[in-house]
Amino acid sequence: MNKILVVDDEKGMRDFLSIMLKKEGYEVITADGGAEAIDLVKDNSLDLLDLVITDIKMPRLDGLTVLSATRERDPHIPVIMITAFASTETAVEAMKKGAYDYITKPFKVDEIKLIVKKALEKKRLEEENIYLKGELKEKYQFSNIIGKSEKMMKIYDLIRKVADSKSAILISGESGTGKELVARAIHYNSNRRDMPFVSVNCGAMPENLLESELFGHEKGAFTDAYRDKKGLLEIANGGTFFLDEIGESPLSIQVKLLRVLQEMEFKKVGGTKDIKVDVRIIAAANKNLQEAVAKGRFREDLFYRLHVIPIDLPPLRERREDIPLLVDYFIGKFNKSGNKNIRGISHNALRIFENYNWQGNVRELENVIERAIVLETSDIIRLENLSDEIINKATRKKDLTTGFLSEEEVVDLEEILEKVEKDLLLIALKKSGGAMNKAAKLLNLSFRSMRYRLQKHDIKRGIDNDKDRNNL
Ligand SMILES: Nc1ncnc2c1ncn2[C@@H]1O[C@H](COP(=O)(O)OP(=O)(O)OP(=O)(O)O)[C@@H](O)[C@H]1O
Ligand SMILES: [Mg+2]
Repeated sequence: MNKILVVDDEKGMRDFLSIMLKKEGYEVITADGGAEAIDLVKDNSLDLLDLVITDIKMPRLDGLTVLSATRERDPHIPVIMITAFASTETAVEAMKKGAYDYITKPFKVDEIKLIVKKALEKKRLEEENIYLKGELKEKYQFSNIIGKSEKMMKIYDLIRKVADSKSAILISGESGTGKELVARAIHYNSNRRDMPFVSVNCGAMPENLLESELFGHEKGAFTDAYRDKKGLLEIANGGTFFLDEIGESPLSIQVKLLRVLQEMEFKKVGGTKDIKVDVRIIAAANKNLQEAVAKGRFREDLFYRLHVIPIDLPPLRERREDIPLLVDYFIGKFNKSGNKNIRGISHNALRIFENYNWQGNVRELENVIERAIVLETSDIIRLENLSDEIINKATRKKDLTTGFLSEEEVVDLEEILEKVEKDLLLIALKKSGGAMNKAAKLLNLSFRSMRYRLQKHDIKRGIDNDKDRNNL
């Protein structure tokens, strides 16, 4: 039942409103002045009110004060002001301060019933919306990882399940699929979250530097070792250690890592003492590590030690349903960082995204959006600001005609047909080595029709247009 507070210093008005609203099925409480009303509004022990109806003009504390106290308590509680015909100016001021509406005395019963109903409806919608937004965030986002596809949902589940365990994890996936993001999510969802997350890219340093970074060194261990140095493994003690691109680590280091995994022990470079640590190891590899094992470039025993919990991140093209969500997310991100106000993306541009192959996965999508937003002069991302390469690759799909449209989508037919026509002309010309006659035959066109179309697309003298050639 909705709970309404009626505030008026006149008993007659209070009773009238109270009886009328109770008849409508609302729960009503009353206050005979501003001070009493504010006490009720601020009383945390009471259930929250759904609506306040207050007279504006009251001795001592007036309706405007009740309004601001209510908004302070909860800005979603609508406040309806009652005013004498003579003082609509104050009513307007009240609206500016956030009142939902005002009614002038004398008013009709139907009038107030309707306003009350609408105000409560609006509040309900607002609440639902807030709730939904929270829900959506929960549902589609996990520690900054965006995606609602079944594949990503499984990854979130896995992250939750393994977060608190101490077993090693091997995250694999193509470049840009979010391996590091997932490693961090595991750490920040684990009971080690208050301890350090330290990451090292095993492919980015020469062997001896990597070794002393990981394990530290003793003074004098090598020419430049002027003093003792703690290794990153020691710095990560108690936390999580992320070994990125583990497949790139040299065999000599793989041996030492194996010992860390098995015994949580290592020696510094040039050291003799064993150092004990407690770290959770997460490794990432974007190549097929198993293949590296087969070729003898990666130790099999280390592979199996890491492979205790494998997490395989799907490429973006295998979860295309996440693309719109990611697009929104990155638009928001770059709006903020670039001080832009892009509202969304055009249908056609989104279609292109959904058909493109995304070899560079989420990172590539992120970069494409960043670029498009920088170039965009309107308030949505349009086809024009995507590179030709992406458009061509996305539209040259074999199943273009069938795969492009789904139920509720809108595409610009002319725009797309033009694009397809141009692509096919260029492909035919390429196949024919630039010979127009032959190309026309491939497309079952007359010479004249071919020439007309080439002119229309500004493809000059066959294929000698560099830009077009590059697009092939
Ligand atoms: N699901 C996702 N939601 C939001 N952002 C993502 C997602 N996946 C990746 N990203 C973003 O894409 C970029 C690349 O992610 P990350 O560095 O984790 O990928 P990676 O798999 O480690 O790539 P690489 O193998 O090239 O190192 C980052 O900016 C990351 O924030
Ligand atoms: Mg990475």
